[in-house]
Amino acid sequence: MSEPEIVVLPDPEASAAAAAERIAAILVEAAAARGRAHWATTGGSTPAAIYRGLAVAPLRDTVPWAQVELWWGDDRFVPFDHPLSNVSIAAADLLDIGATSGESGTGAYGVDVIAGRTAGAPIPAQNVHPFPIPKAIAEATDPEWAAERYVEMLRADGPPTEGGWPVFDLVFLGVGPDGHVLSVFPGSEAFDRDEIAMGIPAPTHVEPHVARVTLNPRIIDTARRVIVVSHGAAKASILAEILTSERDVRRLPAQLARRPGATWILDEAAASQLPR
Ligand code: 6PG
Repeated sequence: MSEPEIVVLPDPEASAAAAAERIAAILVEAAAARGRAHWATTGGSTPAAIYRGLAVAPLRDTVPWAQVELWWGDDRFVPFDHPLSNVSIAAADLLDIGATSGESGTGAYGVDVIAGRTAGAPIPAQNVHPFPIPKAIAEATDPEWAAERYVEMLRADGPPTEGGWPVFDLVFLGVGPDGHVLSVFPGSEAFDRDEIAMGIPAPTHVEPHVARVTLNPRIIDTARRVIVVSHGAAKASILAEILTSERDVRRLPAQLARRPGATWILDEAAASQLPR
């Protein structure tokens, strides 16, 4: 199989439910096989409903959350409680850190968690690994500093490596309107960098215009499984181009996820320009 699996479902709700089920199954399998399930997650508008599906029964009760290690593929250089933060989405819709730590309030990540709420995946606080962006901001450093610390964090607690690159059990991605994944934009210098994580200047061609930190696009090649989720007619044309045009990942970075072991979960609107 040289191409990814493409799953098309009637609407965003069905697609989010399918994505949550796939993610849960991958985490269960990785934890059973290797004792840990290393997941690099994403931002954008698609994760919230997927997170909510994982945060309640039955999926909440099927995943061995204590064995899940949650990382981020990229984030914006803003505090964790900022609406643009990819961490804030997980804090709002996925994590139940308080249930595990027995505490509520602002936890180790600087995000509010609610003790003992019945929804929420009880991933232990020490297994949640956001980019240390608030520390970088507090110390008046830059995205590159946060990226360097993240590389150290990955070396200490991250997944096994292959040729020096982390092998995540799951990389979960959204697709940007320009065909970007992670914070790797068309023509990105990230393709020429050897670091596992790096700072990225604020893009001017897509919103939001804020600086980022991102993992190296190589981690999409080394991941065991990749899940891409995209919804809506606004993405139909770029998705058709990504999935059908000749491979040129520097022009369309999302083509990195056109690989075996990847599953693209689209709603009908997003898939409307794909050949059937
Ligand atoms: C960004 C975007 C991006 C996002 C995709 C998918 O920071 O440039 O937010 O990272 O993942 O644009 O977004 P949707 O989930 O809304 O399709």
